[in-house]
Amino acid sequence: PKPKLLPTPPMGWNSWNKFKCDVSEKLIREQADAMVSNGLRDAGYKYIVIDDCWQKSRDADGNIQADPERFPSGIKALADYVHSKGLKFGIYSDAGALTCGGRPGSAGHEFQDARQYAKWGVDYLKYDWCFTGPRNAEAAYTIMAKALRESGRDIVLSICEWGTHNPERWAPNVGHLWRTTGDIFDAWQGKKDWSIGMVDILDRNVDSWRHAGPDRWPDPDMLEVGNGGMTVTEYESHFSLWAMLAAPLMAGNDMANMSADTRRILTNKDIIAVDQDPLAQPARRVRKDGDLEVWTRPLQGGDIAVVLFNRGAKATEMSADWALLNLPAGSRAQTRNLWSGEVKKGVTARVGGSVASHGVLMWRITPELAR
Ligand code: GLA
Repeated sequence: PKPKLLPTPPMGWNSWNKFKCDVSEKLIREQADAMVSNGLRDAGYKYIVIDDCWQKSRDADGNIQADPERFPSGIKALADYVHSKGLKFGIYSDAGALTCGGRPGSAGHEFQDARQYAKWGVDYLKYDWCFTGPRNAEAAYTIMAKALRESGRDIVLSICEWGTHNPERWAPNVGHLWRTTGDIFDAWQGKKDWSIGMVDILDRNVDSWRHAGPDRWPDPDMLEVGNGGMTVTEYESHFSLWAMLAAPLMAGNDMANMSADTRRILTNKDIIAVDQDPLAQPARRVRKDGDLEVWTRPLQGGDIAVVLFNRGAKATEMSADWALLNLPAGSRAQTRNLWSGEVKKGVTARVGGSVASHGVLMWRITPELAR
């Protein structure tokens, strides 16, 4: 069996969304430094993952080599540096002959690569699906899972075949998380090459809750918060909804150059606590009236997280009443607004308010014992 490594969804940072192939040891060190100095490590972010394009070639014995110009000190030294900051280190490969960026993939080199990763001190592997030809996805990912296990090191396996081969049927037994869709791009909605916008990704994950649990996390792709293509309001919605889904929270911005809003969103500890809730039960969409949606998530100890989401073009009054939340009629609760921080006690009947266009209101509701 795979090692148990993720009782709650992984949190960290990945180079792809912002930097694409422009990766180097200098960049990764800067990002690790920034994860600490900006308070993200203390907020729970842990994995620093280099995505595609760190690889260059294989040597005569088939050993994978990092790009020597961009990683002159080598991957082991970089992993040591990341570990010295109290963080974990991740890397990327592909089940095909080449990665999506055209670098050497791991097909036929799975055991050799896994041993190399273990020697370097890798803690997390994102394993992609480009150039795989007629390979069977379940079989291909199972081989890498076995190779990682036999490496002797605990390594998270992040499966990235974009939901194309019914991963919900096999990925929970093979890896620790699996992508459910093609790539996100930094926009509210729409399509760009093979990527889709934030709410399009959300729409394809409405049923993901069925498959989620400890060490088996559906992955709606990494965060775009702070990358500039959405408004602050839209980024708040993105972050809130990913937390409701119990999604991996992999920041995808330049952590060394963050606005105050980006930092405020990524480090909202009450919303992170929803994502990381130990009950490990994602939200369900319990109401959809056109552009207006209510999502609810049960939390450990009987609390409930609620999001009112307005996809429309105008601010709109919305509410969720106790019946919708499965709370007894007439019962009282404490409500904490997770963006404003406002706490109210003795609330009865409903939570609600004016929800901005493309915005959310989000609460944590704690039932109060009857007196
Ligand atoms: C695919 C993946 C992305 C990223 C790129 C790298 O598109 O889905 O997340 O890893 O490859 O080339």
